Amino acid sequence: MANDDHTILPGGILLRPLAGGDAPALLDAYVRNRSHLQPFEPVRTEEFYTLAGQRERLANQLAAQEAGALFGWVFVDEERIVGTITLTHVARGPLNSANLGYWVDGDYAGRGLTGAAAAFVVRYADEVLGLHRVEAGTLLDNLASQRVLAKAGFTEFGVAPRMLHINGAWRDHRLFQIILNDLPPR
Ligand SMILES: CC(C)(COP(=O)(O)OP(=O)(O)OC[C@H]1O[C@@H](n2cnc3c(N)ncnc32)[C@H](O)[C@@H]1OP(=O)(O)O)[C@@H](O)C(=O)NCCC(=O)NCCS
Repeated sequence: MANDDHTILPGGILLRPLAGGDAPALLDAYVRNRSHLQPFEPVRTEEFYTLAGQRERLANQLAAQEAGALFGWVFVDEERIVGTITLTHVARGPLNSANLGYWVDGDYAGRGLTGAAAAFVVRYADEVLGLHRVEAGTLLDNLASQRVLAKAGFTEFGVAPRMLHINGAWRDHRLFQIILNDLPPR
């Protein structure tokens, strides 16, 4: 992988890092996928569905990326953003771990895009970031997401009751992790 930060997913979709000019395409993607994503996401404000809201969110994410606390990628089909995958809560020291989150445009689901993206990001977390572990959580009945994690080598380690506020309520989550290596903490 060397230090490659991008790859080609099935069907020629580009996976590349989040970039400064992405707010309009992200807005378009979230507006198109509002009802598709609603069951799986926190309740979004109306501001979220504006260009100003997306510019602010992107600026915060890029600042966190600059600080090494977050690493985000977008799935791109020509000019269109059709998904994202993000490592958040990057913690160094004895934890040396991060959380993985993702979604794909409803019209692009079931084509193996997220499975391939998760495999790439896990490898990036290991070989480029030198993390020890990546964690992910899914709603109990999100079988597609659980399958994505299984394909990328994650194993389930428990259920966290009422862990995250998703679609208007505190919801139980299945927790998954992948151990990447046993290098010393950094
Ligand atoms: C979950 C999600 C990211 C999967 O993305 P995707 O690009 O379709 O994933 P892939 O095509 O790589 O893999 C999906 C796998 O789930 C399987 N799958 C899909 N629906 C399923 C279901 N209802 N039950 C069991 N398996 C299912 C597919 O067959 C596929 O497995 P396979 O490759 O062995 O055939 C996408 O459905 C999505 O964005 N959902 C809404 C947001 C979300 O759930 N985000 C994750 C929150 S934890």
